[in-house]
Amino acid sequence: MKLSLIFYLFVLSQAFPLAQEDTISLYNNDLRIIKTSPNEFKIVSEDEKLKLKQEGVNFIDVTNYYPIDAVVGQEVLASPRTRLKNLKDWFKRPKQVDDEPEAPIYNYPIKANYEKEVHFLFEGINKTRIEEKLTKFSSFWTRYYKSKSGFDSSNWLYKQLISISIHSDLIQIEKFHHKEWDQFSIIARFKGEIDDIVVVGAHQDSINLKDPLHGRSPGADDDGSGSMTILEAFQLLAEDKDFKPYNTLEFQWYSAEEVGLLGSQDIFNTYKSKDKKVVAMLQQDMTGYTKDTIEAGIEVHIALIQDFVSQPLNSFLKMLFDTYSDIPYHLMSCGYACSDHASARRNGYPSSFMMEAVPNSNAKADWGHSENDVIDQLDFNHMKDHAKLTIAYAYELSLARDLY
Ligand SMILES: *[C@@H]1O[C@H](CO)[C@@H](O)[C@H](O)[C@H]1NC(C)=O
Repeated sequence: MKLSLIFYLFVLSQAFPLAQEDTISLYNNDLRIIKTSPNEFKIVSEDEKLKLKQEGVNFIDVTNYYPIDAVVGQEVLASPRTRLKNLKDWFKRPKQVDDEPEAPIYNYPIKANYEKEVHFLFEGINKTRIEEKLTKFSSFWTRYYKSKSGFDSSNWLYKQLISISIHSDLIQIEKFHHKEWDQFSIIARFKGEIDDIVVVGAHQDSINLKDPLHGRSPGADDDGSGSMTILEAFQLLAEDKDFKPYNTLEFQWYSAEEVGLLGSQDIFNTYKSKDKKVVAMLQQDMTGYTKDTIEAGIEVHIALIQDFVSQPLNSFLKMLFDTYSDIPYHLMSCGYACSDHASARRNGYPSSFMMEAVPNSNAKADWGHSENDVIDQLDFNHMKDHAKLTIAYAYELSLARDLY
């Protein structure tokens, strides 16, 4: 990609005569700034972004959230030609910039404190209900962040949350709007005694990588499964009259994950700028596919991601597996920016990520992000396993005191 970046900048520098260079803006010319690793930045067009995604490269699109002018510093005051040259040079240099502050270390519980309550909630997990809701959620033509049906699917989800929580005065449902596209993110908040926040996340949007705007994209597994898994956990907690969290507990459904974690960045960057304290974030992106794992003769498990995540939070999650899960975890790596937990991490919030059983093959790449990600091949027992861990995490951590 380096080559195409340089080529692109070359074309860019040739395409505009000097007098017009003033109008060159990263924000208005279909140019995006993406991060493909903690220190690696690229300038790409929307098309190149899509191509990277097709090649399986993960990234964070930081265009709207990166203080590029500050980084290039005084150089913004230079003449347009110098500025463009400096910008080019800046992107070619290895980056010293660290915009990913270390998360504080919190004292997460080292043992479960609410086994009776949590096990009681497990009784209520309803696979039929998850299946019904996922059937509806994956029936929208696509949940692409810029599509009309993607907007409609957000509204459907919002209405589900409203109807679940209508009688609760503890819960607020918030539409989190994004400036550049219509599909909103959604936050369902249990107001705690204090403002520290425990987050459960999944992403709403889907994508057909061959034709994002028009192609069919049921996104049943990616990430309809995670979205409906955490919805089930939310419903059980919302209907539990005895549940009153100490920390504020938020369930978040992100828009625009598939295009560089845009929705979750909007939320966590906003939280950071408002000095909100997120003490833990757990992402669940794909919770329903076990077929390849079973066929490969590997035990059904949950993949606990071990790279670019919070190790203290992972220790807490391992304790939850020991206490609450019928199936084990397998440690897996998924690389930089592989889902929305990366947006929390980038803002110095501890975050972790668990996903469905991962076989030792890449078979899934054939149908992910296409019209083939349909509900028929999903395993609702697996979603139930994920729902259990979600409930355990939400319950134990939102009631934890003395985290610091
Ligand atoms: C589970 O959900 C289905 C579909 O919403 C519902 O018809 C059924 O009564 C539920 N089962 C229980 C035990 O609540």
